[in-house]
Amino acid sequence: MSEPVKKDHWQAVSLSTDVGRKPWRLLLDGAPVVLFRSTTGISALFDRCAHRLVELSTGKIVEGEIECPYHGWRFDGDGRCTAIPGHVGAVPHYRVRRYPAIERDGVVFVAVGSPEGEPYLHCMQGQDVIVRRVRSSTQSTVIDAAENILDATHTHFTHKGLLRGLSAKRHLVHVEVTGGEGWVEACYTGEERQQGLISRLLEGARTKTIGRFRHPGIAELEYWGTNGLVLATTFHLRQADERTVEGVGWLIGPRQGGIGHLKALAFKPLFNIALEQDRKVLKSASDNARFSPEALPAIGPLDFLRRDIAAIMEGKMPSAAAGPRVHQIEL
Ligand code: FES
Ligand SMILES: [Fe+2]
Repeated sequence: MSEPVKKDHWQAVSLSTDVGRKPWRLLLDGAPVVLFRSTTGISALFDRCAHRLVELSTGKIVEGEIECPYHGWRFDGDGRCTAIPGHVGAVPHYRVRRYPAIERDGVVFVAVGSPEGEPYLHCMQGQDVIVRRVRSSTQSTVIDAAENILDATHTHFTHKGLLRGLSAKRHLVHVEVTGGEGWVEACYTGEERQQGLISRLLEGARTKTIGRFRHPGIAELEYWGTNGLVLATTFHLRQADERTVEGVGWLIGPRQGGIGHLKALAFKPLFNIALEQDRKVLKSASDNARFSPEALPAIGPLDFLRRDIAAIMEGKMPSAAAGPRVHQIEL
């Protein structure tokens, strides 16, 4: 697979609540980054002391600066060394790399390149919704994890009983795939009400389901009923290291009607069960992919988004941008 194109963007990396009194270490495309709260707000530094390269994240925060656990060098929110304990006189100039970082709606974003403007948050941004924030980690790749979130056809097997009923009955569903620069989506209409536990608990009649991918690794699902939005999720995925995908995202429901507060609370544990089921298949695929001969996954007739997701990740225009594609499938 070719490398994703690093167009300048804000990358969601953690929840605000992850970064408390202690520093928080994460990997961003294999690079160690430490998040902490400095005197000027959230701060993201390359997680390596300028002195003997120890992980700064194993140190502590002292007066809004991060203190290395080895000799106590301190770095401020901009990555400048401010103290070398035992040294008499002015502190010589040392620094570690700093990444621009901001917090929006309970999520921390780190700049990849020099993005302009505000980060994209979620598909119901600016609307009157209730949200729960989630973070997860999966042994996989961004493309496989994103496709898994958006793939309607695995639910019969991976999530039998939870997202789908126990019966094997299927219904004819209309799928329309559209896209543009940096995004592609599949809109499913004509679905019957789902018989799985989650759907029975949360939904009335369903009118349409949308699965959407956005640059650089954002997967989102929207469930619409006759009275409007029922439930939505937006997940920002990133490749932490070669075999690990980390996700930060929102579970979203309308404030009025729809799932409401109580149901939104009930949804999170059920969502976690589904996530665990997905983790299992993704790990199996990831483990198995390592055996030679190297194999490319088959793109089956129902894998409507795979090629376009790959194109978007490579910085290319998805083929769906040329015009909508229409399919009929049994779901
Ligand atoms: S290694 Fe960090 S202070 Fe020496
Ligand atoms: Fe799934």
